[in-house]
Amino acid sequence: MDKEQLNITPIFDQMLQREDKERLLKQRSVMVWFTGLSGSGKSTIAVALERELHRRGLLCRILDGDNIRTGINNNLGFSEEDRIENIRRIAEVGRLFIDSGIITIAAFISPNNELRKMAASIIGKADFLEVYVNTPIMECERRDVKGLYAKARKGEIKNFTGVSAPFEAPAKPDLSLDTSVLSVEESVQRLLEIILPKILWE
Ligand code: ADX
Repeated sequence: MDKEQLNITPIFDQMLQREDKERLLKQRSVMVWFTGLSGSGKSTIAVALERELHRRGLLCRILDGDNIRTGINNNLGFSEEDRIENIRRIAEVGRLFIDSGIITIAAFISPNNELRKMAASIIGKADFLEVYVNTPIMECERRDVKGLYAKARKGEIKNFTGVSAPFEAPAKPDLSLDTSVLSVEESVQRLLEIILPKILWE
């Protein structure tokens, strides 16, 4: 439906712009999008990255699988359809943060190229950094922090990514991080190298 049919009158032209917010915060915003298996280390790195950027005086916001799925997306499961809707909403919310000048860090399995492409196109390709946490599944399963791999192997969780649902590796991520060989600090260092040039003001 178009805007007239919906009786919607966007006021985007009257609102302050992203640039105004970025100037206020003295930072450029960007989306740092982590993709990878459950247990690969996405959330751990996201938290460490946020702390490091915050320490440098930069304002960030993390969007994380388990948090979003207990809130805005609490009506969604893990069917293909629901995973699409999960990522679509997250990308739309992410865009609101980006438009507010905030460095946004998303940590979702986002298991295939279609999903990640959709996220990038909602957010805008120029603002989208794709980071593949490519920790091998053997290591994710060995850690099994939440006990979910064990349950999935017993057939107690259906469509579990890496066990009974596919994970498609990104072809050309901006960065890959294997947390079975890199420490959290090393991962953060590598991230800073690609993020800082994008976010530093002037
Ligand atoms: S995504 O595939 O839709 O991007 P998302 O990152 O939001 O997934 O959520 C993944 C988290 O949900 C996992 O870390 C795990 O804790 C939990 N989970 C529960 N069921 C599943 C499942 N079938 N497949 C993957 N993760 C699941």
